[in-house]
Amino acid sequence: MVEVNVGGLKLKNPVMSASGTFGYGKEFAGFYDLSLLGAVVCKTITLRQREGNKPPRVADFSGGMLNSIGLENKGAEYFIETALPFLAKYDTKVVASIAGGSAQEYGELAKILDKQKRVDAIEINLSCPNVAHGKSKGLFAQCCATSASIVAAARANTQKPVFAKLTAMVSDVVAVAKECKAAGAHALTLINTLPAMAVNLQTKKPMLGNVSGGMSGPAIKAVALKVVWDVYNNVDIPIIASGGISTAADALEFILCGATAAQIGSANFVNPFAARDAAAGIEEYFKTNNLKNIEDLRGKLKI
Ligand SMILES: Cc1cc2nc3c(=O)[nH]c(=O)nc-3n(C[C@H](O)[C@H](O)[C@H](O)COP(=O)(O)O)c2cc1C
Repeated sequence: MVEVNVGGLKLKNPVMSASGTFGYGKEFAGFYDLSLLGAVVCKTITLRQREGNKPPRVADFSGGMLNSIGLENKGAEYFIETALPFLAKYDTKVVASIAGGSAQEYGELAKILDKQKRVDAIEINLSCPNVAHGKSKGLFAQCCATSASIVAAARANTQKPVFAKLTAMVSDVVAVAKECKAAGAHALTLINTLPAMAVNLQTKKPMLGNVSGGMSGPAIKAVALKVVWDVYNNVDIPIIASGGISTAADALEFILCGATAAQIGSANFVNPFAARDAAAGIEEYFKTNNLKNIEDLRGKLKI
């Protein structure tokens, strides 16, 4: 088994679901045993229920998909009462993903989740392109000081590992990564969707009700690889890769560039077995190539 340790969270293999593409696993449990995954990262929750943006909220394009869900979720209480008992049946780690309008709200959520035994780690979503971020003009992760204050607020309220999920839409992602590390993040998730839009020439309308949304899938893999590589070379912190990872080969490329774990996102919509198959494929690759552990491959890109 290719076991990994991501900032204190021990996983049986490096494959996680990506937040928002897997619900809390219920639909996918009808296809395969969730215990085959290193971790399930649940849909981002907020303190209270959120409605999300107006439809249509997803659109296909040649390189992947766009979404403008807008963090629709039923709130923390529902998550605790419904998702966590469901996930208790599986031998996989559970990562709760959180968002809020202020550092204080992130702190409150971290405090609530800290009391939940079934939550193994907390991913702080600082980079959703589909919501207004409190008083901040851009994404939280576009500002070093805001990112740091949110990470610090979460850390002050939980003993569990805290991961900060960042955006590539910054001039210097290494600077943001350094601030998040200094504020106490145990690991970084790189990257979230990229702000984007698509239009319908026939109707002369945008494809998304929200006009713009977040781009994900194969089109963003090359961007994510570069971010992972840059952060790996400049910041000493575990990296969880996200962005266009559909197969074991994709995940292995990210590990070569410095990632410790890999999240499968949009690929879940194309092939519900994608995450399970990626985990099995990584195992197979390590066996075939006689690799003993993640250190034999992580960051070993030949340049
Ligand atoms: C429909 C959809 C909903 C998403 N919702 C969330 C979310 O709630 N929280 C979050 O941190 N990321 C969310 N994401 C971003 C994914 O977790 C992932 O970071 C991104 O899609 C890049 O990975 P991919 O190319 O493998 O899809 C969402 C992505 C999609 C496609």
